Amino acid sequence: MNQEVIRIKGIKKIYKVGNQEVRALNGVDIQINKNEYVAIMGPSGSGKSTMMNILGCLDSPSEGEYILNGTDVSKMDDNELAVIRNKEIGFIFQSFNLLPRYTALDNVALPLIYSGESREKREDRARVALENVDLKDRMHHKPNELSGGQRQRVAVARALVNNPSIILADEPTGNLDTKTSIDIMKLFEEIHEQGNTVILVTHEEDIAKHAKRIIRLRDGIIESDHTNEHQII
Ligand SMILES: Nc1ncnc2c1ncn2[C@@H]1O[C@H](COP(=O)(O)OP(=O)(O)OP(=O)(O)O)[C@@H](O)[C@H]1O
Ligand SMILES: [Mg+2]
Repeated sequence: MNQEVIRIKGIKKIYKVGNQEVRALNGVDIQINKNEYVAIMGPSGSGKSTMMNILGCLDSPSEGEYILNGTDVSKMDDNELAVIRNKEIGFIFQSFNLLPRYTALDNVALPLIYSGESREKREDRARVALENVDLKDRMHHKPNELSGGQRQRVAVARALVNNPSIILADEPTGNLDTKTSIDIMKLFEEIHEQGNTVILVTHEEDIAKHAKRIIRLRDGIIESDHTNEHQII
């Protein structure tokens, strides 16, 4: 049986700027099962990041329902969302979002701060996560001492260190060259093969082809949602 991890229904996000209203999402319904690999595409401004931020519990919708692993998170406050986020979500950003003064190891260990585990145990887990992205020999480097691809791999390790149920990535290869993008996409494929649910936003058809399902947004609504018959593995 397919286990549902995400169900959103009638999701709207309306931003108010001065006396202007921006309907970033205008009624979106999506259901995603465990271990799906989904790409979200659409023109600039179509609502992709807005949707990822809601799916990742970084923001809440103006209207609609979001059931995450059976729990209604749509009406939770920021503190409650932070707890859910820490437990369920691994987020990867286009601009890596690493803390500049911290080493790779410390950046990856950071999400474990609420785990209740000892510092030693947290560092052990961070070390394993960095080894898994092939960065064993760069643990003590700070972000500015790493290449773009290595920074993104640190960000992937950080996203995975908590064993989240969902990996969300918003344009993860947007700042990388083609070869490095291919390496990062291989990493996502491995993460998917390990049984994780992966959702990624991309502008590039070549990147989206790695996913098994492609959802296209336009003007805050779903334009299409279909299986990708030409998946690259
Ligand atoms: N914090 C905000 N306040 C007001 N308007 C916003 C805010 N964030 C996004 N918007 C508006 O909402 C719409 C959707 O933005 P969003 O960032 O979700 O688009 P996107 O599909 O991710 O675009 P891109 O491909 O350029 O990243 C845009 O029109 C944008 O201007
Ligand atoms: Mg965006």
